[in-house]
This record gives sequence, structure tokens and C-alpha cells, in this order.
Amino acid sequence: MEDIVIVGFGGHAKSVADCIEREGKYHIVGYTDLQKADSQYSYMGTDDELQAIFDSGIKNAAIGVGYMGKGEIRRQLYSKLKDIGFKLPIIVDPSASVSDTAAIGEGSFVGKGAIINTEAGVGKMVIINTKALVEHECVVGDYAHVAVGAVLCGQVKVGEAAFIGANATVIQCREVKGNAIIPAGATIR
Ligand SMILES: CC(C)(COP(=O)(O)OP(=O)(O)OC[C@H]1O[C@@H](n2cnc3c(N)ncnc32)[C@H](O)[C@@H]1OP(=O)(O)O)[C@@H](O)C(=O)NCCC(=O)NCCS
Repeated sequence: MEDIVIVGFGGHAKSVADCIEREGKYHIVGYTDLQKADSQYSYMGTDDELQAIFDSGIKNAAIGVGYMGKGEIRRQLYSKLKDIGFKLPIIVDPSASVSDTAAIGEGSFVGKGAIINTEAGVGKMVIINTKALVEHECVVGDYAHVAVGAVLCGQVKVGEAAFIGANATVIQCREVKGNAIIPAGATIR
């Protein structure tokens, strides 16, 4: 099993770690963050240590920073990790259902019970969170976050780094602009 380091360890990182454990494809060696977190995993120092971590033979990274309107942090972390040479595997919880005809970009995370239906296109570094539904032919831009229980009906387009709040619904064929924040429970018609 290959090793993986988690970069940033808040609440979202705990979900990511849990899915990595359940997938059983990677061994979590520890995490980086500004300071030691409440975690069973080893604290490996700040992000300044990432080059040394890579040089020690750990070639995979998962970004644990969740966000709402903080797409910029995830962009910066992504560039930093790619410059060093890290691979950012797609993490999909075993309970999620992803169509064989859907595409998902590198570093994206698909949480428990999420559904990504046929011909949907999910960009890189996207979070499709617990029980979110991305219906047929939706396009979700890089760094976007579809929060827990949110529903994107068919053929919806979500721009880069947009945030679709918990339990929000976007009806079919609508477009959400990049960096937009859709409030929890909102319906976009
Ligand atoms: C929309 C949101 C970003 C606004 O946060 P904020 O800028 O801190 O705004 P406030 O909480 O001060 O609320 C401002 C006003 O919007 C209203 N409001 C806030 N969230 C709302 C929502 N989801 N639906 C309807 N109205 C909402 C508030 O009642 C308040 O109204 P008022 O001015 O009449 O009192 C936030 O409420 C929200 O929905 N966040 C998403 C949380 C989420 O989905 N988390 C998932 C993590 S996986």
C-alpha cells in the first residue's frame, strides 16, 4: 500500500481520513498543519516540511482543508503540492455511487453516500460532500464544494470555487457562477 500525507487537519480532514481508511488503498502516515491537531495520526510539522516529506518517499497527498469561500487556500495548496511533485489521488468513499460515465479530476473528494450520475464532469480539487447528489450531465468546476446533502439537478453548471450550501437545491440546467456562495437550504430556480 502506498503512503499518503494529509495536508491541513480540521474537521473536513477527519472525513477525508475516514474515507481513505475505508477505501484501503493508501496508508496515512500523518498530517501537516500550523499546529498539532486532535488526531490519532502523527503530526509531521507545518507545510514547510512538505518537500522533506516528499523527499523521504511519500509521494501522495490529500488536502484536508475544507472550505466555504476559501477556494484560494486550496488553489495555493494544490500548486505547492504539484510543484513539489506530489500525486493527489481522487478519494471516493466506498458508500458513494459514481457512474462509470462520470469523470472526476485529481485531488477531488467524494464523501459518504454521495451520488455522481451519468456523464457528470467533476473538476479537480472538488469536494462532493456527504450525501450530495450531482445528477446527470452536471459540470462542477475546479475547487468547487457541493456541501452535505446538496442537490444539483440534471445539466447544472457550477463555476470554479463556487460553494453550494448544505441541503441547497439547484434545479436543472441552471448555472452557478464561479466563487458564488449558495446559502444552506436555498433553492436556485
Ligand atoms: C449564507 C451564509 C454563508 C451567510 O452567512 P453570514 O454571511 O455569516 O450571514 P449571517 O449569518 O449574518 O446572515 C445574514 C442574513 O441572512 C440570513 N441567512 C443566513 N443564512 C441563510 C440561509 N441559509 N437561508 C436563508 N437565509 C439565511 C440570516 O437570517 C440573516 O438575515 P437578517 O439580516 O434578516 O437577520 C450562511 O448562513 C450559510 O448558509 N452557510 C452555509 C453553511 C453550510 O452549508 N455548511 C456546510 C458545510 S459542509
